[in-house]
Amino acid sequence: MKHLPIVLLGTLALAACSHQAPDAAVAAKSAPAASGAMQTAKAAPKQAQPAFTPPPESAIPAGPLGDEIRLGRAIFTDTPEHAHDYVGNGLSCSNCHLDAGRLANSAPLWGAWGMYPQYRKKNGHVNSFGERLQGCFRFSMNGKAPPLDSDVIVALESYAWWMSKGAPNGVKLAGAGYPKQGFKPPQPPDYARGAAVYAQDCALCHGADGQGQQVAGRNVFPPLWGPQSFNWGAGMHELDNAAAFIKANMPLSRGGTLSDQDAWDVAMYMDAHERPQDPRYAGDVAATRAKYHDTPMSLYGTTVNGHLLGSGVAK
Ligand code: HEC
Ligand code: HEC
Repeated sequence: MKHLPIVLLGTLALAACSHQAPDAAVAAKSAPAASGAMQTAKAAPKQAQPAFTPPPESAIPAGPLGDEIRLGRAIFTDTPEHAHDYVGNGLSCSNCHLDAGRLANSAPLWGAWGMYPQYRKKNGHVNSFGERLQGCFRFSMNGKAPPLDSDVIVALESYAWWMSKGAPNGVKLAGAGYPKQGFKPPQPPDYARGAAVYAQDCALCHGADGQGQQVAGRNVFPPLWGPQSFNWGAGMHELDNAAAFIKANMPLSRGGTLSDQDAWDVAMYMDAHERPQDPRYAGDVAATRAKYHDTPMSLYGTTVNGHLLGSGVAK
């Protein structure tokens, strides 16, 4: 893997970059895992069959409603470009909700739409779907919440609504969310083991320093920590979300090939790095942990390798 020629790396980059080549990215993801001679499968993939197939993009209607749905898709797949005012990092929604929000087990939009309004412990009240979207901007995008009646939120709602046409309402569908039910580490996650998994299975694309790879100022491979990543308030900083996402979806196009232990270890390694401060921080790391991160799934406010996590990084 270390000696991949630059040309091949370039091809890989293009195929993997969903907003530049959606069809290629989809093809890469659906290629059988066994076709990659570069890898050894460590465990059989155990992904649930999706209970729902979203309509093809060609079914987006013409007219003003179709235009709004298409705008929502554009925002979702290239968020810095189309929702610039509300984004504080280089990520797009589709970096974590793969295949433009369609892919099962990567928190697809069709698995979310029919589950709102929903009570969320995170903010202690019932959230509309729009408020859930606002949360993604504040935390995962390290930005600020677009107003509920803004074009950005309405377009994203239109896209999610359209994608969920025909899905049962109020039912947790197979493939919704990240598959974290009953997904436990055989042994407690370990930083040093995670570093080894990272070097072997992730660094090629996300960089040895976790900063991803950029071409002309745009992410070809997204960063996993540091100033351009999701912040300490984002769901991905919690170990169970990260481990489940990684197990199901990473390395890209080879989801399901890491062992459960490797997925937890590398999730811990990723989430034990510094990232932008939690926007709810009010001057004290211990108090912020006590108020928002009092769970073994969060490393915020704990010390790993002599570093107190939660100091934040400058944007
Ligand atoms: C850094 C990764 C990341 C990015 C970027 C991101 N999200 Fe998320 N998103 C998550 C995680 C983690 C969850 C929580 C999933 C869970 O609890 O199962 C989530 C949850 C959601 C949900 C609720 C899913 C459900 O099943 O209830 C929606 C809707 C959503 N995100 C939309 C967006 C939108 C829109 C954007 C872009 C503005 C975005 N996300 C950007 C990681 C991300
Ligand atoms: C072949 C290249 C490749 C490899 C190898 C790879 N990734 Fe990714 N990863 C990507 C791409 C590309 C995306 C964005 C997906 C998209 O936009 O469709 C991504 C997205 C992510 C995300 C969510 C977005 C973010 O930046 O936070 C996480 C977390 C992640 N990868 C972790 C890992 C881990 C951990 C490994 C190793 C086990 C890994 N990846 C291996 C290419 C790769």
